[in-house]
Amino acid sequence: MTTINVTLRAFEEEDIADLHRWLNDADSISLVGRVPMTFEETRKHVEHKRQQGDLVLAIENEDKKAVGWIFLQNIEHEHGRASIGILLAPEYRGCGYGKPAMEKMIDIGFKQLRLHKIYLTTRGINQRAIELYQKIGFVVEGQLRQHAYSEGNYYDTYFMGLLADEWMNT
Ligand SMILES: CC(C)(COP(=O)(O)OP(=O)(O)OC[C@H]1O[C@@H](n2cnc3c(N)ncnc32)[C@H](O)[C@@H]1OP(=O)(O)O)[C@@H](O)C(=O)NCCC(=O)NCCS
Repeated sequence: MTTINVTLRAFEEEDIADLHRWLNDADSISLVGRVPMTFEETRKHVEHKRQQGDLVLAIENEDKKAVGWIFLQNIEHEHGRASIGILLAPEYRGCGYGKPAMEKMIDIGFKQLRLHKIYLTTRGINQRAIELYQKIGFVVEGQLRQHAYSEGNYYDTYFMGLLADEWMNT
């Protein structure tokens, strides 16, 4: 089995053009729930995340190519929790980058930021994301019925969580 290696590095100004393309891909819009964004809206979106104190990183493959971004957001130190989000470039989905990128970010969350819990929400139709999160160790803590609307249908949303103890013991 080939091990896929990724590096997480700072998300730079010059990555915004890539992000603009990744966010505007049709699957991203239906799975992550965004309407198309202009370049300027994308830039402001990144700026807003930084202002909120989100940890925003680029995912780089072994060829030093940016293949996606990953972030910890809603960081609340008083509760020791944050939520995690990931988006890969359309051409790099299904290549196995998601798992090592998530694992590295989770390590940062638990071993550097001293978080106690990392959580996320995902749509019930996003089977690939759910499978990935379960493989990593996230468990479904709640199912929000018909919580998201996309292309004429309502979909359940899953709330999934991973505790530091569970991660350290794997
Ligand atoms: C979701 C995402 C991060 C997954 O990363 P990825 O590198 O593409 O994931 P992989 O292809 O390695 O698949 C992970 C697991 O999901 C499962 N899987 C893959 N394709 C699948 C599919 N079409 N349907 C169901 N399960 C699938 C497999 O179990 C796979 O594990 P395996 O390769 O060990 O068998 C990435 O596809 C992505 O950025 N998608 C668009 C944005 C998004 O959905 N973000 C998450 C929002 S919550």
